[in-house]
Amino acid sequence: MINKKVENALNKHLNSELYSAYLYMSMSANFESANLKGFANWMRVQIQEEMVHVRKFYDYILQRGGKVVLTAIDSPPAGWVSPLKVFEDALTHEQLVTNLINALVNLAFAEKDHATVNFLQWFVTEQVEEEASFNDVLQRLRIIGKDGGALFMLDKEMAARVFVPPATTAGQIDKRVLTPCSTRTRCFLQIFFSLPLTNNWSIGGEQACASL
Ligand code: FEO
Repeated sequence: MINKKVENALNKHLNSELYSAYLYMSMSANFESANLKGFANWMRVQIQEEMVHVRKFYDYILQRGGKVVLTAIDSPPAGWVSPLKVFEDALTHEQLVTNLINALVNLAFAEKDHATVNFLQWFVTEQVEEEASFNDVLQRLRIIGKDGGALFMLDKEMAARVFVPPATTAGQIDKRVLTPCSTRTRCFLQIFFSLPLTNNWSIGGEQACASL
């Protein structure tokens, strides 16, 4: 059974991950409005990543006999002056999430909850990748500056990003993040992110199903 203090902190963090998805959805919409379809796609994929994070916390709290408590999600900003500003804000947000994860690890250690310390290690590693991925785009935008042609080229590149479900061990898909789908049962993710319906288990659509 999970300690109440840790359970509350995990629930609070689950809300932060939902906020991340909400923030990136707002950023994606902002890019769509600016006709930067590639950037919009990149953010859509990021939303899917964030929902995997949400699902991991959700499953873990339940697995430990805790209660999932969903609370109101703050409104994200709705407008940015440039792609550069979007990625500056996004990186700042990811750095905040990293600090929140580190604080959770500290709490789990203080409460001698080794299972939660172990669970959080995936997120410690994930945050290194998250910050690096946002920073990579940010640095390129800084180089591009006001060069519209270069921005157009980067937008094309951003269109190629696809969602890949996380692996647990080499070559394995983490089946805990997969959801059943059929023509009659639509999971939240499929409705929300317009993922294609299949008659298998999927989070990433047919591509993920095909690799199972
Ligand atoms: Fe869930 Fe991007 O951290």
